[in-house]
Amino acid sequence: MTAVAQHKNVLDIEKIRKDFPILSRKVNGKPLVYFDNGASSQKPQSVIDATNKYYSYENANIHRGVHTLSQEATSAYEVVREKVRAFINADKSHEIIFTKGTTDSINLVAFSFGRTHINEGDEVLISAMEHHSNIVPWQMLCVEKKAKLKVIPINDDGELMMDEYKKLLSKKTKIVAVTHISNSLGTVNPVKEIIAAAHEKGIPVLIDGAQAIHHTTVDVKDLDCDFYSFSAHKMYGPTGVGVLYGKEELLNSIPPYQGGGDMIKTVTFEKTTYNELPHKFEAGTPNIAGGIAFGAAIDYINSIGIETIAAYEHELTEYALQQLNTVPGIKFIGKAKERASVISFLLDNIHPYDAGVILDKMGIAVRTGHHCTQPLMDRFKISGTVRASFSFYNTKEEVDVLVKGLHKVIDMFK
Ligand code: ALA
Repeated sequence: MTAVAQHKNVLDIEKIRKDFPILSRKVNGKPLVYFDNGASSQKPQSVIDATNKYYSYENANIHRGVHTLSQEATSAYEVVREKVRAFINADKSHEIIFTKGTTDSINLVAFSFGRTHINEGDEVLISAMEHHSNIVPWQMLCVEKKAKLKVIPINDDGELMMDEYKKLLSKKTKIVAVTHISNSLGTVNPVKEIIAAAHEKGIPVLIDGAQAIHHTTVDVKDLDCDFYSFSAHKMYGPTGVGVLYGKEELLNSIPPYQGGGDMIKTVTFEKTTYNELPHKFEAGTPNIAGGIAFGAAIDYINSIGIETIAAYEHELTEYALQQLNTVPGIKFIGKAKERASVISFLLDNIHPYDAGVILDKMGIAVRTGHHCTQPLMDRFKISGTVRASFSFYNTKEEVDVLVKGLHKVIDMFK
Protein backbone atom coordinates (compact mmCIF):
# COMPACT_ATOMS: atom_id res chain seq x y z
CA MET A 1 0.00 0.00 0.00
CA THR A 2 1.36 3.44 -0.89
CA ALA A 3 1.66 6.22 1.67
CA VAL A 4 -1.20 8.05 -0.06
CA ALA A 5 -3.47 5.00 0.06
CA GLN A 6 -2.56 4.39 3.68
CA HIS A 7 -3.45 7.88 4.82
CA LYS A 8 -6.95 7.54 3.33
CA ASN A 9 -7.63 5.03 6.07
CA VAL A 10 -6.57 7.39 8.81
CA LEU A 11 -7.31 10.96 7.72
CA ASP A 12 -10.94 11.84 8.38
CA ILE A 13 -11.10 15.34 6.87
CA GLU A 14 -14.68 16.05 7.90
CA LYS A 15 -13.79 15.26 11.51
CA ILE A 16 -10.58 17.29 11.28
CA ARG A 17 -12.46 20.29 9.89
CA LYS A 18 -14.70 20.30 12.95
CA ASP A 19 -11.59 20.91 15.08
CA PHE A 20 -11.14 24.29 13.36
CA PRO A 21 -14.07 26.56 14.33
CA ILE A 22 -13.34 29.18 11.66
CA LEU A 23 -13.77 26.67 8.84
CA SER A 24 -17.52 26.55 9.42
CA ARG A 25 -18.04 30.30 9.05
CA LYS A 26 -19.34 32.09 6.00
CA VAL A 27 -17.58 34.90 4.19
CA ASN A 28 -19.69 37.19 2.04
CA GLY A 29 -22.58 34.79 2.51
CA LYS A 30 -20.62 31.80 1.14
CA PRO A 31 -18.90 28.95 2.97
CA LEU A 32 -15.30 29.96 3.58
CA VAL A 33 -12.76 28.30 1.28
CA TYR A 34 -9.46 29.10 2.94
CA PHE A 35 -6.57 28.76 0.50
CA ASP A 36 -4.19 31.26 2.13
CA ASN A 37 -2.40 28.79 4.36
CA GLY A 38 0.98 29.97 3.05
CA ALA A 39 0.34 33.29 4.79
CA SER A 40 -1.07 31.82 8.00
CA SER A 41 -2.91 28.64 8.90
CA GLN A 42 -6.13 28.33 10.90
CA LYS A 43 -6.13 27.22 14.55
CA PRO A 44 -7.71 24.10 16.04
CA GLN A 45 -9.88 24.43 19.16
CA SER A 46 -7.12 22.88 21.29
CA VAL A 47 -4.78 25.80 20.46
CA ILE A 48 -7.51 28.35 21.20
CA ASP A 49 -8.30 26.52 24.47
CA ALA A 50 -4.64 26.46 25.52
CA THR A 51 -4.46 30.26 25.12
CA ASN A 52 -7.68 30.74 27.13
CA LYS A 53 -6.54 28.34 29.84
CA TYR A 54 -3.24 30.14 30.31
CA TYR A 55 -4.87 33.54 30.71
CA SER A 56 -7.77 32.16 32.80
CA TYR A 57 -5.84 29.95 35.26
CA GLU A 58 -2.07 30.06 34.80
CA ASN A 59 -1.07 33.62 33.94
CA ALA A 60 2.24 34.69 35.48
CA ASN A 61 5.68 35.66 34.25
CA ILE A 62 8.19 32.85 33.72
CA HIS A 63 11.75 32.20 34.96
CA ARG A 64 11.30 34.87 37.64
CA GLY A 65 9.01 33.81 40.45
CA VAL A 66 9.10 31.38 43.36
CA HIS A 67 5.32 31.45 43.60
CA THR A 68 3.18 28.62 42.26
CA LEU A 69 1.74 30.40 39.24
CA SER A 70 5.17 31.44 38.00
CA GLN A 71 6.54 27.94 38.54
CA GLU A 72 3.61 26.40 36.69
CA ALA A 73 3.84 28.85 33.81
CA THR A 74 7.61 28.25 33.56
CA SER A 75 7.16 24.46 33.33
CA ALA A 76 4.31 24.76 30.81
CA TYR A 77 6.48 27.03 28.64
CA GLU A 78 9.65 24.94 28.94
CA VAL A 79 7.79 21.72 28.10
CA VAL A 80 7.14 23.27 24.70
CA ARG A 81 10.85 23.78 24.09
CA GLU A 82 11.27 20.05 24.54
CA LYS A 83 8.32 19.37 22.21
CA VAL A 84 9.95 21.52 19.53
CA ARG A 85 13.27 19.73 20.06
CA ALA A 86 11.63 16.37 19.52
CA PHE A 87 9.61 17.66 16.54
CA ILE A 88 12.74 18.65 14.60
CA ASN A 89 14.99 15.98 16.17
CA ALA A 90 17.49 18.46 17.60
CA ASP A 91 20.06 17.11 20.02
CA LYS A 92 19.38 19.44 22.92
CA SER A 93 16.42 21.55 23.99
CA HIS A 94 18.68 24.56 24.62
CA GLU A 95 19.40 24.58 20.88
CA ILE A 96 15.79 25.79 20.51
CA ILE A 97 15.59 29.58 20.81
CA PHE A 98 12.10 31.06 21.01
CA THR A 99 11.65 34.17 18.87
CA LYS A 100 8.77 36.24 17.52
CA GLY A 101 8.77 34.29 14.27
CA THR A 102 10.86 33.34 11.25
CA THR A 103 11.72 36.96 10.46
CA ASP A 104 12.96 37.53 14.00
CA SER A 105 14.99 34.30 13.86
CA ILE A 106 16.73 35.31 10.62
CA ASN A 107 17.43 38.79 11.97
CA LEU A 108 18.98 37.18 15.03
CA VAL A 109 21.37 35.17 12.85
CA ALA A 110 22.14 38.12 10.56
CA PHE A 111 22.96 40.49 13.39
CA SER A 112 24.57 38.10 15.87
CA PHE A 113 26.39 35.59 13.66
CA GLY A 114 26.68 38.15 10.85
CA ARG A 115 28.20 40.96 12.87
CA THR A 116 30.66 38.49 14.41
CA HIS A 117 31.80 36.64 11.32
CA ILE A 118 31.13 38.81 8.26
CA ASN A 119 33.55 41.54 7.31
CA GLU A 120 34.42 43.84 4.41
CA GLY A 121 34.63 41.94 1.12
CA ASP A 122 32.94 38.79 2.51
CA GLU A 123 29.91 37.31 0.82
CA VAL A 124 26.46 36.17 1.96
CA LEU A 125 24.83 33.70 -0.42
CA ILE A 126 21.03 33.60 -0.72
CA SER A 127 18.76 32.45 -3.56
CA ALA A 128 16.56 34.17 -6.12
CA MET A 129 13.41 32.77 -4.53
CA GLU A 130 13.90 34.14 -1.00
CA HIS A 131 11.18 35.87 0.97
CA HIS A 132 12.04 39.47 1.86
CA SER A 133 12.71 38.26 5.41
CA ASN A 134 15.68 36.28 4.11
CA ILE A 135 16.92 39.11 1.89
CA VAL A 136 16.55 42.40 3.74
CA PRO A 137 18.35 41.50 7.03
CA TRP A 138 21.31 40.28 4.98
CA GLN A 139 21.25 43.39 2.80
CA MET A 140 21.25 45.57 5.93
CA LEU A 141 24.19 43.61 7.31
CA CYS A 142 26.08 43.80 4.01
CA VAL A 143 25.69 47.58 3.92
CA GLU A 144 26.93 47.83 7.52
CA LYS A 145 29.90 45.53 6.92
CA LYS A 146 30.67 46.42 3.29
CA ALA A 147 30.04 42.78 2.40
CA LYS A 148 28.39 41.47 -0.78
CA LEU A 149 25.04 39.75 -1.23
CA LYS A 150 25.26 37.01 -3.86
CA VAL A 151 22.25 35.26 -5.36
CA ILE A 152 21.85 31.67 -6.56
CA PRO A 153 19.89 31.85 -9.84
CA ILE A 154 16.82 29.76 -10.67
CA ASN A 155 15.62 28.23 -13.94
CA ASP A 156 12.31 28.99 -15.68
CA ASP A 157 10.57 26.23 -13.73
CA GLY A 158 11.55 27.92 -10.48
CA GLU A 159 14.26 25.46 -9.42
CA LEU A 160 17.63 26.41 -8.00
CA MET A 161 20.50 26.07 -10.50
CA MET A 162 22.66 23.81 -8.38
CA ASP A 163 25.74 23.99 -10.66
CA GLU A 164 25.67 27.76 -10.39
CA TYR A 165 25.23 27.45 -6.64
CA LYS A 166 28.34 25.33 -6.29
CA LYS A 167 30.31 27.80 -8.44
CA LEU A 168 29.24 30.67 -6.16
CA LEU A 169 30.65 29.01 -3.03
CA SER A 170 34.06 30.48 -2.32
CA LYS A 171 36.47 31.40 0.45
CA LYS A 172 34.63 34.71 0.69
CA THR A 173 31.26 33.04 1.41
CA LYS A 174 30.59 33.30 5.14
CA ILE A 175 27.05 31.94 5.23
CA VAL A 176 24.47 30.39 2.89
CA ALA A 177 20.86 31.31 3.72
CA VAL A 178 18.15 29.62 1.63
CA THR A 179 14.53 28.70 1.88
CA HIS A 180 13.49 25.06 2.30
CA ILE A 181 10.23 25.58 0.36
CA SER A 182 9.42 28.66 -1.71
CA ASN A 183 6.34 30.52 -0.44
CA SER A 184 5.61 31.86 -3.93
CA LEU A 185 6.38 28.87 -6.15
CA GLY A 186 6.07 25.86 -3.88
CA THR A 187 9.50 24.62 -4.97
CA VAL A 188 11.06 22.21 -2.49
CA ASN A 189 14.78 22.92 -2.50
CA PRO A 190 17.39 20.15 -2.17
CA VAL A 191 18.49 21.53 1.19
CA LYS A 192 20.48 18.48 2.21
CA GLU A 193 22.62 18.77 -0.92
CA ILE A 194 22.90 22.55 -0.45
CA ILE A 195 24.13 22.07 3.13
CA ALA A 196 26.58 19.30 2.23
CA ALA A 197 28.13 21.40 -0.56
CA ALA A 198 28.55 24.41 1.75
CA HIS A 199 30.00 22.27 4.54
CA GLU A 200 32.62 20.86 2.17
CA LYS A 201 33.97 24.41 2.15
CA GLY A 202 33.40 24.96 5.87
CA ILE A 203 30.49 27.39 5.30
CA PRO A 204 27.52 27.34 7.71
CA VAL A 205 23.97 27.22 6.39
CA LEU A 206 20.72 28.78 7.59
CA ILE A 207 17.51 27.22 6.29
CA ASP A 208 14.31 29.28 6.26
CA GLY A 209 11.79 26.60 7.11
CA ALA A 210 8.69 28.81 7.40
CA GLN A 211 6.91 27.04 4.53
CA ALA A 212 8.32 23.58 5.20
CA ILE A 213 8.00 22.76 8.87
CA HIS A 214 4.27 21.89 8.67
CA HIS A 215 4.39 20.20 5.26
CA THR A 216 7.29 17.78 5.56
CA THR A 217 9.41 15.97 8.12
CA VAL A 218 12.23 18.21 9.27
CA ASP A 219 15.15 16.46 10.95
CA VAL A 220 17.84 19.03 11.69
CA LYS A 221 20.38 16.33 12.55
CA ASP A 222 19.84 14.51 9.29
CA LEU A 223 19.96 17.79 7.35
CA ASP A 224 23.00 18.85 9.37
CA CYS A 225 21.90 22.50 9.03
CA ASP A 226 23.57 25.05 11.28
CA PHE A 227 20.45 27.17 11.74
CA TYR A 228 16.78 26.43 10.95
CA SER A 229 14.02 29.01 11.40
CA PHE A 230 10.23 28.77 11.46
CA SER A 231 7.01 30.32 12.81
CA ALA A 232 4.25 28.84 14.97
CA HIS A 233 1.41 30.58 13.14
CA LYS A 234 1.93 28.59 9.96
CA MET A 235 1.86 25.41 12.09
CA TYR A 236 -1.71 25.94 13.34
CA GLY A 237 -0.30 27.81 16.34
CA PRO A 238 -0.41 31.46 17.44
CA THR A 239 1.17 34.48 15.79
CA GLY A 240 4.16 36.17 17.42
CA VAL A 241 6.01 32.94 18.27
CA GLY A 242 8.79 31.32 16.31
CA VAL A 243 11.91 29.27 16.60
CA LEU A 244 15.54 29.52 15.74
CA TYR A 245 17.28 26.17 15.94
CA GLY A 246 21.04 26.50 16.08
CA LYS A 247 23.84 24.05 16.71
CA GLU A 248 24.96 24.43 20.32
CA GLU A 249 28.57 25.22 19.49
CA LEU A 250 27.59 27.95 17.03
CA LEU A 251 25.04 29.51 19.37
CA ASN A 252 27.63 29.54 22.13
CA SER A 253 30.15 31.25 19.87
CA ILE A 254 27.99 34.28 19.02
CA PRO A 255 26.80 37.17 21.19
CA PRO A 256 23.24 38.01 22.29
CA TYR A 257 21.12 39.82 19.75
CA GLN A 258 19.16 41.90 22.25
CA GLY A 259 19.82 42.96 25.83
CA GLY A 260 17.36 42.94 28.71
CA GLY A 261 15.91 40.82 31.46
CA ASP A 262 16.31 37.03 31.50
CA MET A 263 19.33 37.03 29.15
CA ILE A 264 21.81 37.97 31.89
CA LYS A 265 23.65 36.24 34.71
CA THR A 266 24.93 39.36 36.46
CA VAL A 267 24.68 43.07 35.72
CA THR A 268 26.69 45.96 37.12
CA PHE A 269 27.01 49.39 35.54
CA GLU A 270 30.48 48.35 34.43
CA LYS A 271 29.76 44.95 32.96
CA THR A 272 27.13 42.32 32.20
CA THR A 273 27.68 38.58 32.04
CA TYR A 274 25.26 36.67 29.88
CA ASN A 275 22.97 33.80 30.69
CA GLU A 276 23.39 30.35 29.21
CA LEU A 277 21.59 28.96 26.19
CA PRO A 278 18.77 29.34 25.34
CA HIS A 279 18.11 32.33 27.62
CA LYS A 280 21.07 34.31 26.26
CA PHE A 281 18.97 34.97 23.14
CA GLU A 282 15.62 35.50 24.83
CA ALA A 283 15.65 38.99 26.32
CA GLY A 284 12.46 40.24 27.96
CA THR A 285 9.13 38.62 28.74
CA PRO A 286 8.24 36.38 25.80
CA ASN A 287 4.85 35.55 24.35
CA ILE A 288 4.13 33.02 27.12
CA ALA A 289 0.52 32.28 26.16
CA GLY A 290 1.61 31.92 22.55
CA GLY A 291 4.45 29.59 23.48
CA ILE A 292 2.16 27.34 25.49
CA ALA A 293 -0.46 27.32 22.71
CA PHE A 294 2.32 26.48 20.26
CA GLY A 295 2.80 23.28 22.26
CA ALA A 296 -0.87 22.44 21.68
CA ALA A 297 -0.34 23.02 17.93
CA ILE A 298 2.59 20.60 17.87
CA ASP A 299 0.48 18.04 19.74
CA TYR A 300 -2.22 18.51 17.12
CA ILE A 301 0.17 17.96 14.21
CA ASN A 302 1.62 14.90 15.96
CA SER A 303 -1.85 13.49 16.54
CA ILE A 304 -2.29 13.31 12.75
CA GLY A 305 1.33 12.71 11.81
CA ILE A 306 3.43 14.90 9.54
CA GLU A 307 3.86 12.08 6.99
CA THR A 308 0.12 11.59 6.75
CA ILE A 309 -0.30 15.34 6.33
CA ALA A 310 2.38 15.44 3.61
CA ALA A 311 0.82 12.55 1.67
CA TYR A 312 -2.68 14.06 1.77
CA GLU A 313 -1.46 17.55 0.79
CA HIS A 314 0.52 16.05 -2.08
CA GLU A 315 -2.57 14.29 -3.40
CA LEU A 316 -4.66 17.46 -3.02
CA THR A 317 -2.05 19.58 -4.82
CA GLU A 318 -1.86 17.10 -7.72
CA TYR A 319 -5.65 17.21 -7.98
CA ALA A 320 -5.64 21.04 -7.87
CA LEU A 321 -2.97 21.24 -10.59
CA GLN A 322 -5.04 18.97 -12.85
CA GLN A 323 -8.26 20.87 -12.27
CA LEU A 324 -6.70 24.32 -12.56
CA ASN A 325 -5.19 23.25 -15.86
CA THR A 326 -8.73 23.22 -17.30
CA VAL A 327 -9.10 26.97 -16.63
CA PRO A 328 -8.75 28.84 -19.96
CA GLY A 329 -5.69 31.12 -20.17
CA ILE A 330 -4.16 29.97 -16.87
CA LYS A 331 -0.39 30.23 -16.64
CA PHE A 332 1.44 28.56 -13.76
CA ILE A 333 4.41 30.38 -12.27
CA GLY A 334 6.72 27.73 -10.83
CA LYS A 335 6.75 24.20 -12.21
CA ALA A 336 9.35 22.52 -10.06
CA LYS A 337 9.50 18.74 -10.10
CA GLU A 338 9.70 18.75 -6.30
CA ARG A 339 6.91 20.92 -5.02
CA ALA A 340 4.75 21.49 -1.98
CA SER A 341 1.12 22.57 -1.64
CA VAL A 342 1.48 26.05 -3.12
CA ILE A 343 0.23 26.93 -6.61
CA SER A 344 0.91 30.35 -8.15
CA PHE A 345 -0.74 31.37 -11.38
CA LEU A 346 -1.88 34.16 -13.69
CA LEU A 347 -5.08 34.42 -15.69
CA ASP A 348 -4.43 35.90 -19.15
CA ASN A 349 -4.59 39.68 -18.79
CA ILE A 350 -6.58 39.74 -15.54
CA HIS A 351 -4.73 41.48 -12.71
CA PRO A 352 -4.17 39.15 -9.71
CA TYR A 353 -5.67 41.80 -7.41
CA ASP A 354 -8.92 41.85 -9.39
CA ALA A 355 -9.10 38.06 -9.39
CA GLY A 356 -8.47 38.00 -5.62
CA VAL A 357 -11.21 40.55 -4.88
CA ILE A 358 -13.79 38.70 -7.01
CA LEU A 359 -12.86 35.33 -5.48
CA ASP A 360 -13.28 36.87 -2.03
CA LYS A 361 -16.86 37.80 -2.91
CA MET A 362 -17.38 34.05 -3.39
CA GLY A 363 -15.88 33.27 0.03
CA ILE A 364 -12.57 32.08 -1.45
CA ALA A 365 -9.42 33.37 0.28
CA VAL A 366 -6.26 33.35 -1.86
CA ARG A 367 -3.23 35.60 -1.65
CA THR A 368 -2.47 37.95 -4.52
CA GLY A 369 0.52 40.15 -5.24
CA HIS A 370 4.26 39.66 -4.91
CA HIS A 371 4.06 37.46 -1.78
CA CYS A 372 6.99 39.35 -0.20
CA THR A 373 9.25 38.07 -2.98
CA GLN A 374 9.63 41.08 -5.26
CA PRO A 375 13.01 40.02 -6.72
CA LEU A 376 11.46 36.66 -7.64
CA MET A 377 8.58 38.41 -9.40
CA ASP A 378 11.18 40.53 -11.26
CA ARG A 379 12.89 37.30 -12.33
CA PHE A 380 9.64 36.20 -14.00
CA LYS A 381 8.97 39.78 -15.25
CA ILE A 382 5.60 39.94 -13.50
CA SER A 383 4.24 42.13 -10.72
CA GLY A 384 2.54 39.31 -8.84
CA THR A 385 0.46 36.15 -9.00
CA VAL A 386 -2.66 34.59 -7.56
CA ARG A 387 -1.55 32.02 -5.00
CA ALA A 388 -3.57 29.13 -3.63
CA SER A 389 -1.86 27.36 -0.73
CA PHE A 390 -3.39 24.26 0.79
CA SER A 391 -3.51 22.54 4.13
CA PHE A 392 -4.66 19.12 5.29
CA TYR A 393 -8.08 20.52 6.23
CA ASN A 394 -8.78 21.54 2.63
CA THR A 395 -10.75 19.29 0.32
CA LYS A 396 -11.08 18.43 -3.36
CA GLU A 397 -14.59 19.93 -3.24
CA GLU A 398 -13.03 23.25 -2.20
CA VAL A 399 -10.61 23.00 -5.13
CA ASP A 400 -13.66 22.56 -7.39
CA VAL A 401 -15.17 25.72 -5.87
CA LEU A 402 -11.98 27.62 -6.70
CA VAL A 403 -11.95 26.33 -10.28
CA LYS A 404 -15.61 27.32 -10.74
CA GLY A 405 -14.80 30.71 -9.21
CA LEU A 406 -11.97 31.25 -11.67
CA HIS A 407 -14.28 30.47 -14.57
CA LYS A 408 -16.63 33.17 -13.26
CA VAL A 409 -13.74 35.65 -12.97
CA ILE A 410 -12.83 34.97 -16.59
CA ASP A 411 -16.45 35.35 -17.72
CA MET A 412 -16.66 38.72 -15.97
CA PHE A 413 -13.63 39.99 -17.87
CA LYS A 414 -14.75 38.71 -21.27
N1 ALA B 1 5.31 34.62 4.18
C1 ALA B 1 3.89 34.61 4.19
C2 ALA B 1 3.31 34.34 2.82
O1 ALA B 1 3.98 33.78 2.01
C3 ALA B 1 3.30 35.81 4.81
O2 ALA B 1 2.18 34.68 2.56
